[in-house]
Amino acid sequence: MALSQLGQRYLKLFPSGCKILSCSMHKGPSDSPYWHKIFKDKNIRDFDEIPTVGPVFEEYKNFKIHEAYQRWIEVGHVVKELFPGGGCCIHVYHYEDFSTVYKNDGMFPLRKSHEVIARYRRDRPHLYNSVGLGPGMGAEWAHLRQMLPQGVGKNVYMPFRPQLEEVVDDFIDLVLAKLDENSEIELLPYLFRWAFESIGVITLNRRLDALSQVGNEEADNLIKAAHLANEIIFLSNVGDFEKQYERLIPSQDYFARVIMDYVAEAALEPEGSSLVSKLAREDRDYKDITTLILDLFQGAISTVPLTLTWALYQVSRHPEIQERARKELMELMPTKDALFYDTSLELKKQSLGIANYMQYTKAIIGETLRLIPPTIGNGRIISKNLVLGGYLVPAGNMVVMQSQAACRSNEYFERPLEFIPDRYINRAKYYQKGMVDIPFGLGIRSCVGRAFANAQMNLALSKILRNFEVSYYHEEVGVINRLHNEPDRPVLFRLKPTPQ
Ligand code: HEM
Repeated sequence: MALSQLGQRYLKLFPSGCKILSCSMHKGPSDSPYWHKIFKDKNIRDFDEIPTVGPVFEEYKNFKIHEAYQRWIEVGHVVKELFPGGGCCIHVYHYEDFSTVYKNDGMFPLRKSHEVIARYRRDRPHLYNSVGLGPGMGAEWAHLRQMLPQGVGKNVYMPFRPQLEEVVDDFIDLVLAKLDENSEIELLPYLFRWAFESIGVITLNRRLDALSQVGNEEADNLIKAAHLANEIIFLSNVGDFEKQYERLIPSQDYFARVIMDYVAEAALEPEGSSLVSKLAREDRDYKDITTLILDLFQGAISTVPLTLTWALYQVSRHPEIQERARKELMELMPTKDALFYDTSLELKKQSLGIANYMQYTKAIIGETLRLIPPTIGNGRIISKNLVLGGYLVPAGNMVVMQSQAACRSNEYFERPLEFIPDRYINRAKYYQKGMVDIPFGLGIRSCVGRAFANAQMNLALSKILRNFEVSYYHEEVGVINRLHNEPDRPVLFRLKPTPQ
């Protein structure tokens, strides 16, 4: 298909792409850019005048790069990071610059990431037509993305709500069985299994048995392979690419082979309701289907479990926040075995209005994503020359929108380091200006799993808090970043079952 035809088709499929960009990030036409207050002469500066930082190899190697990103906000509103092997990237911290980058995304937003996965797939053309959603560029990316015009949205996961709830119930049963003598447990490995099982339900319409009481080696190995891939994607951006590529091969061979087998079985059910059956019915190319499903598994396994762990860590340190959420949840689920997804919930939603239903629990998730999102920020290779923060940045440069660092700055939020879910209820009071909390990115290349991720976080957090009082009695948990923000130690939660 010619590029222009693909573009036409693409615009039809993504009518909302432009709408997202007309969000509150925009300034009014008469406002002058923020950097006029910094550069009083209002003259645009040269690329070479951007303050430089780095190289910072050690901080990447120690998985502490987020600390450097946070520090650099003091160096300038725009900074140029020099890479150890040459080259650079531009970090921006102001919402007007985020807005400029997203507004100029164009039809095929370019993101330079997952190159090691791209190499792996390019080297295996008998299995892959393209490098996939994460690393894909231009028309190749759009071809895959248009297979999911609404992302992993309601049409994909809603038919599976009862099964998804069963998966959470199995998770809760497993957790109860695995509590130690102090009623403590490291939840994260079980949350990974839950997320793996859930993505299997909606894509393949099958249970993968990851929550089995006796354990499941295959599920554990797949989850391990997904984590290793994340680490390698991260390290290959700054370290020895070839070495990281060699590390990737065996685990990626395993991951891809097993998931491809699952897809092959699911494709045998042409009438089925799984995503694979649906795509097969649409006569999608088989290699494209497997690539997409691999990317969805990879995207789903870590992000939501990590966010839930951070949310539980926060509420365990703020019992009053936890109690307020539980009170709200007891109205939705009067008994512990009440269903989250049942018809009375639908009636409740209607009577409360969609905005008010589970308002506080959702605010806890929003505040967690503001303070400790799975991804630090979001990058683009800009395809036009752009003025960012008063500097002319030529096309072809990589720009990172440092949303996490901005979210932690008092430029945007009052008491930014405190966990205050009410920010997401009384936005007028707490929002200082502009929108920097964009954990899923924005625009036509934003997270394809966003709707599913939110539904899963609402479901799991609600059921966990309805079933357990969660506390934490150990040392403070710090953050390491290996592509995603992870706890720097096992987070052992103490769980006390709630009375009926
Ligand atoms: C809390 C949960 C999640 C967060 C915060 C998150 C965040 C993100 C971000 C920031 C991006 C880059 C967006 C951009 O470049 O504009 C992204 C991309 C992506 N996410 Fe997520 N994600 C989450 C959950 C998921 C889930 C559950 C899936 C799979 C079901 C998923 C699959 C993907 C894929 C495949 C991409 C690449 C999309 C593309 O380039 O077209 N994510 N995500």
